Amino acid sequence: MGELHIITKWIFVMSLAMASSALDYFPEGYFASTDVTNVTWAHAVNSKQLLDTNLKDSKVQMLEADLVMGTLADSNETTVIMAHPPTNTSDLSFEMFLNQTMEYNRNLTVERRKGIKLDFKEFPAVESSLALLARFNESNPELLRFPIWINADILPGPVNASSTVNVNGTLLIQLQKQYLPRSTLSLGWTTRLQDDVKNGSYTREQVDEMANLIKAAFTNDTEKANAQVTFPLRAGIALNSITNIKYFLDEAGINFTSPSVTLWEGASDPKLNITELEQFKEAIHKSRVFLDLPYSLGNDTSASLALFPNRFIALSLVSLSFVMMLISR
Ligand SMILES: *[C@@H]1O[C@H](CO)[C@@H](O)[C@H](O)[C@H]1NC(C)=O
Ligand SMILES: *[C@@H]1O[C@H](CO)[C@@H](O)[C@H](O)[C@H]1NC(C)=O
Ligand SMILES: *[C@@H]1O[C@H](CO)[C@@H](O)[C@H](O)[C@H]1NC(C)=O
Ligand SMILES: *[C@@H]1O[C@H](CO)[C@@H](O)[C@H](O)[C@H]1NC(C)=O
Ligand SMILES: *[C@@H]1O[C@H](CO)[C@@H](O)[C@H](O)[C@H]1NC(C)=O
Ligand SMILES: *[C@@H]1O[C@H](CO)[C@@H](O)[C@H](O)[C@H]1NC(C)=O
Ligand SMILES: *[C@@H]1O[C@H](CO)[C@@H](O)[C@H](O)[C@H]1NC(C)=O
Ligand SMILES: *[C@@H]1O[C@H](CO)[C@@H](O)[C@H](O)[C@H]1NC(C)=O
Ligand SMILES: *[C@@H]1O[C@H](CO)[C@@H](O)[C@H](O)[C@H]1NC(C)=O
Ligand SMILES: *[C@@H]1O[C@H](CO)[C@@H](O)[C@H](O)[C@H]1NC(C)=O
Ligand SMILES: *[C@@H]1O[C@H](CO)[C@@H](O)[C@H](O)[C@H]1NC(C)=O
Ligand SMILES: *[C@@H]1O[C@H](CO)[C@@H](O)[C@H](O)[C@H]1NC(C)=O
Repeated sequence: MGELHIITKWIFVMSLAMASSALDYFPEGYFASTDVTNVTWAHAVNSKQLLDTNLKDSKVQMLEADLVMGTLADSNETTVIMAHPPTNTSDLSFEMFLNQTMEYNRNLTVERRKGIKLDFKEFPAVESSLALLARFNESNPELLRFPIWINADILPGPVNASSTVNVNGTLLIQLQKQYLPRSTLSLGWTTRLQDDVKNGSYTREQVDEMANLIKAAFTNDTEKANAQVTFPLRAGIALNSITNIKYFLDEAGINFTSPSVTLWEGASDPKLNITELEQFKEAIHKSRVFLDLPYSLGNDTSASLALFPNRFIALSLVSLSFVMMLISR
């Protein structure tokens, strides 16, 4: 009986994943809907040189970059620039970043275009950036036919992160709906991860707080059904939080059509346990786990095992165990 229950549940989860064709959204066909764990990322693309290099790199699908108010090296005018706090100067403004990305994408077929994840580090950078995007969308929507993710940490999170939340989530969602409703919202928690707290987790209270914010921000069912939303999670902490993350996505009442999570890592985070990473992917499902991690590009900076062979073996094991389960009935 127990076994039958597990099989039924598994088939249910699989068919859900296929039917809702998670992330099979604008621009049509960009991500394979059944597996987003192999989408590749360049992280902290905050300078001209990094932008050039990563636009040229055919392995890179998504460019993640940070936005703050600051100045260009040759100017004293404050504008939105690409930099990670506390840095507030750069040789790359958001407008330059966007222009160059649009120009690169312009003549490519949709599935070869690169997407952008804009990590807003402070609220003042949000509205003018969304307004700029909206102006391009108005003048020529074709120019923006690539994934655009609007990311910010909007609630305090693990482990007892006391760092200030710099972006008001309610206002962020309002602006995103107003200016660029078909972009992807990426809503996160602030985090604090040190060696002594690496057993921390995303708590039930923290995920409920996010669910409540979302319920209050989306009162329109149509908007909610159309919204594309992902939740960035610091990988080392997320791996300790499978139960709460599953609860959050499936039961906390956020009720988005196909919510996902995006695991990311700080440059000096402790090594991830690859076995646990595989467990996380299996529990949450590969159709809704993005991996903004160094090894998405084959770089093995923090793991002792190569991911790709491992994933292949893990997938084979999953298929095999499925067949075994069917046979054992
Ligand atoms: C990712 O996996 C999907 C499904 O397995 C596959 O269709 C797609 O080509 C893969 N993408 C890359 C970039 O490897
Ligand atoms: C940049 O940071 C420096 C040092 O913290 C500060 O004095 C300056 O006002 C900042 N500039 C902007 C444009 O925020
Ligand atoms: C800003 O730069 C311009 C020329 O680049 C200069 O004329 C002006 O005095 C500067 N303003 C300040 C406040 O430094
Ligand atoms: C970006 O492109 C727009 C329109 O193509 C142009 O008006 C603007 O000057 C460009 N900005 C920069 C910083 O290159
Ligand atoms: C892209 O196409 C436009 C118009 O079709 C053309 O003017 C431009 O030179 C092309 N750009 C590149 C980089 O090929
Ligand atoms: C986090 O806060 C709780 C409750 O105040 C406390 O019991 C716990 O020790 C704190 N954890 C860390 C790692 O600071
Ligand atoms: C966010 O902004 C809304 C609307 O202005 C306000 O009601 C709310 O209190 C703000 N939230 C926080 C945490 O400051
Ligand atoms: C671009 O504008 C159109 C028309 O207002 C809108 O339907 C679409 O959602 C916008 N694109 C994005 C990416 O939000
Ligand atoms: C819900 O949102 C949709 C599209 O964003 C809009 O057309 C519709 O009027 C809204 N419904 C209500 C009840 O506000
Ligand atoms: C939203 O999710 C909750 C919890 O899973 C569920 O009870 C409720 O019926 C859902 N609401 C809608 C409108 O689907
Ligand atoms: C990784 O996690 C697994 C499962 O929790 C555990 O058995 C294994 O010892 C861990 N490996 C390392 C190197 O910590
Ligand atoms: C990843 O590897 C590529 C070359 O394969 C290299 O250019 C890039 O700098 C590496 N990135 C990191 C974060 O190590």
